[in-house]
Amino acid sequence: MSLNLVLMGAPGCGKGTQGKQLEEKYNIPQLSTGDMLRAAVRDQTDVGIKAKQYMDNGELVPDEVLIGIMKDRLIMSDCKNGYILDGFPRTIPQAEALDVLLNDLDQNLTAVINIEVNDHDVVARLCGRRQCKDCATGYHITFNKPMKDNRCDKCSGELYQRDDDNETTITSRLTTYHEKTAPLLDYYTNKNELLSVKGIGSIDKIFGTICDAVMSRKISD
Ligand code: AP5
Ligand code: MG
Ligand code: ZN
Repeated sequence: MSLNLVLMGAPGCGKGTQGKQLEEKYNIPQLSTGDMLRAAVRDQTDVGIKAKQYMDNGELVPDEVLIGIMKDRLIMSDCKNGYILDGFPRTIPQAEALDVLLNDLDQNLTAVINIEVNDHDVVARLCGRRQCKDCATGYHITFNKPMKDNRCDKCSGELYQRDDDNETTITSRLTTYHEKTAPLLDYYTNKNELLSVKGIGSIDKIFGTICDAVMSRKISD
């Protein structure tokens, strides 16, 4: 049986951090739309050139771009045992498009995991975040330090600070989240698919809570 998860929550709530751990534990790919878009920006593809200005302003890239990306991605063979959607869907039209896609693929979501963190805490997290240039693993200069300064523990890649991790863009990402993405919490509550977990505390403890919640959902299916 496949494990089809969505990670949801404000910028900096820990989607990427928890997604990487879920990927390793369950051996299913973490599909971060933010990482895909940053790769497209770096490679200067048509999508990347279009997306950059939205990302730099803390706004959402247009729905049709993201829906197109996910349509192509979910049919790939590495998704056959499941996947972790990190950062998609982020609007009601994206969620509705995902429903259509799942129906076409004869799949269901196992759970939508909402990681709850307040706005004040995410600002501190994002201002100190560093990310690996090669494998996108995330670190924090205080809360989640790499073993060697500026080097990724997993692949020794160089760490960098994302262009959108500055206070001005963080503020507008949070506004965008509350306006456009938070309404999805009701959408998935109504479908009985939402599992909310507290995102404050140690990364490992939060991971344990997420795994317990996912397994209870899988067993009850
Ligand atoms: P994206 O890259 O998805 O950014 P985001 O949603 O703002 O989320 P983040 O990646 O910033 O945070 P996270 O939740 O992954 O937190 P992390 O684990 O890194 O999207 C970027 C942009 O792309 C968007 O603004 C938009 O323009 C565009 N985009 C992407 N998807 C889109 C879509 N579907 N539609 C339209 N546009 C889209 O953790 C953050 C920090 O906190 C790290 O330093 C980490 O080490 C630390 N940390 C994690 N857990 C803890 C903990 N428990 N305690 C202390 N510190 C912790
Ligand atoms: Mg992320
Ligand atoms: Zn790395």
